[in-house]
Amino acid sequence: MLFTNVWYVAATSDELSGRPLPRQMLGRDFVLYRDASGQPVCLSDVCPHRGGRLSRGDCDGNGRIGCPFHGWRFDAEGRCRRIPSQADPDGDIPTAARVDSYPAVERYGLVWVFLGDEPEAAAPLIDMPEYSDPRWRRVSFVDTWAANLHWSKMTDLDHVHLPIVHGIDFGGDNPVRPPDHRVESGPFGFRTRIESRPTVTSGDWRRMRGQRTPVSSQLEFMLSGFCLRGQVEIGGAGSGYFNVFYEMSTPIDEEHTRMYWHFFRSFMLEPENDAEHLRRNLRNIFQDKANAESFLPRRAPEQPDWPALKIDREDRLMTAYWNLLQELRGRGWQIDRQALASCDAAGDYRVIPSPARTAGGSRWVFAPVPRIAASASRGRAGLAAAGDGAV
Ligand code: FES
Ligand SMILES: [Fe+2]
Repeated sequence: MLFTNVWYVAATSDELSGRPLPRQMLGRDFVLYRDASGQPVCLSDVCPHRGGRLSRGDCDGNGRIGCPFHGWRFDAEGRCRRIPSQADPDGDIPTAARVDSYPAVERYGLVWVFLGDEPEAAAPLIDMPEYSDPRWRRVSFVDTWAANLHWSKMTDLDHVHLPIVHGIDFGGDNPVRPPDHRVESGPFGFRTRIESRPTVTSGDWRRMRGQRTPVSSQLEFMLSGFCLRGQVEIGGAGSGYFNVFYEMSTPIDEEHTRMYWHFFRSFMLEPENDAEHLRRNLRNIFQDKANAESFLPRRAPEQPDWPALKIDREDRLMTAYWNLLQELRGRGWQIDRQALASCDAAGDYRVIPSPARTAGGSRWVFAPVPRIAASASRGRAGLAAAGDGAV
């Protein structure tokens, strides 16, 4: 269950250079590189001439990339500018000699690409104020999970797993029962806040607060990057000692997800504390990874079955998440995976349509991926959760 018209993280800034970088996202193939001014470029990786892979070609330093088979050169807008074997290599280029070019920007040490044809309707890029604020110290991590996007997000969009999987309890009479909370939903995200009194178990951060000090935690999901932001006032309410994470997830295909994390802390800012900061977060991440990679079915269903087993406070966040996916489907942005599988099986290569397609005026060799038609009755079908609200 994959969606177009979303900004995704395609790479870290460090991964991108003047040389072609192949990347698979949404089950399709892309090439990324930097142009002469260092700006990121993202193109469909499949040459429209005979299917050469541009990522196996070369960049000329002027923002152009050459196909490794016949040397056609494409600019950052995806237009072919040179066909070396022609009488006039630089003239008379067919308009269909073009690949899709996707908006690409660099923010927060990451390269973001917009994979779709309706950028004006899309969710805005996220804000990450901690990234350039010297009052915060950051550690980062990237990993690939053999799990679909939605199971990967589910391992954090869930309160009860915190005590069960990670040993982070809520305190109170029943330390595995989440405190009552309200989920506020907007068009491209949702957020919640809980107040708890978790036990501090081990490690250097025990110094930050006493046992069972009240702790306020916030969780916010933002569609761009399928980003989850968590904020815990680790030193207890009012201490000003915060641990903040941003988890961005990019579907490679229906069963694999690339995960990017920035972890920020507002305390123990000395670099020698980075290892402990990363260790604490990675412990949780690898516990989540083991779960996500084991869940069945391997692919997320169009509709979840869990309303039959919904537990009052347990499922509010996942319900909000699934409602948001239904909104995206209603907008006509969800890839029709069965139709696409038929295309692939028939040798009919499809691409993610880029914004230039809506402008018209070009012929394209490869047709766009089939998508589930937008529905007139777009909306939150049947998964209402107690405690929901609107932002
Ligand atoms: S296959 Fe790319 S130029 Fe011929
Ligand atoms: Fe988790």
